[in-house]
Amino acid sequence: MQRYNIFHQIHKGLRAMLYETALHIQHADFWNIDETEVAIEKINEVIRLFDKHAFSEDNHVFPAVEQYDPAIADAFEQEHIKDHLLGKSLAEAITRCQLAPVITEKAEVAKEVQARYIKFMVFNLEHMAKEEEVLNRILWRYYSDEELMAITRQIIAEVPADYIVRYERGSFQSGYCILEAKKVVVLNKFLNTEGRINTLIDLLPSIKLTYELLTVDSQKMYDEVMGQQVPGKK
Ligand SMILES: [Fe+2]
Repeated sequence: MQRYNIFHQIHKGLRAMLYETALHIQHADFWNIDETEVAIEKINEVIRLFDKHAFSEDNHVFPAVEQYDPAIADAFEQEHIKDHLLGKSLAEAITRCQLAPVITEKAEVAKEVQARYIKFMVFNLEHMAKEEEVLNRILWRYYSDEELMAITRQIIAEVPADYIVRYERGSFQSGYCILEAKKVVVLNKFLNTEGRINTLIDLLPSIKLTYELLTVDSQKMYDEVMGQQVPGKK
């Protein structure tokens, strides 16, 4: 019988993100400041999401393992510490790259950023594969699929939304404005419910959501609204 793989959806999304970012870095011209900035932004997002993911596993998945196999839970917690350190070392190279005063130095440090990214990626690909192989064996032995799904629901409930929606008065040409840096969408507070829904549908293509972090129902609705296949999705 096919068992419920608690890691499947999120690991699939994280892996896709690692590959896409690696490909982006591969094609980026690090002698071009704008391209370097875009690549850096992508890497920072990877570090942020992996940290967040490790935090939810530490809090929801590992305690379930620890109850029956404390030594294995501890070994994986140690891996998360190593993962965090690799992310920190990558972030440190990124800061040096951003602060480098001249382009020659920037391009030089960018090589180090790329090397550290590869290290981070390889570690995480192996780590996720190991989690699926070793931890699933324990989880499937001691927990039912329903219990494992309940853990997933707890994790999803904790995931903060990518964007916060606020309603304010102001002169909005299109009924909304997006503050990208703060991840805030401001809607005209004078819109009625139908207007709010239509405006949210209108703005959906202009915001970048982490598709894999949406619930299955939200993914379906998102696909319907977008009316097209989402890139990176099976
Ligand atoms: Fe993990």
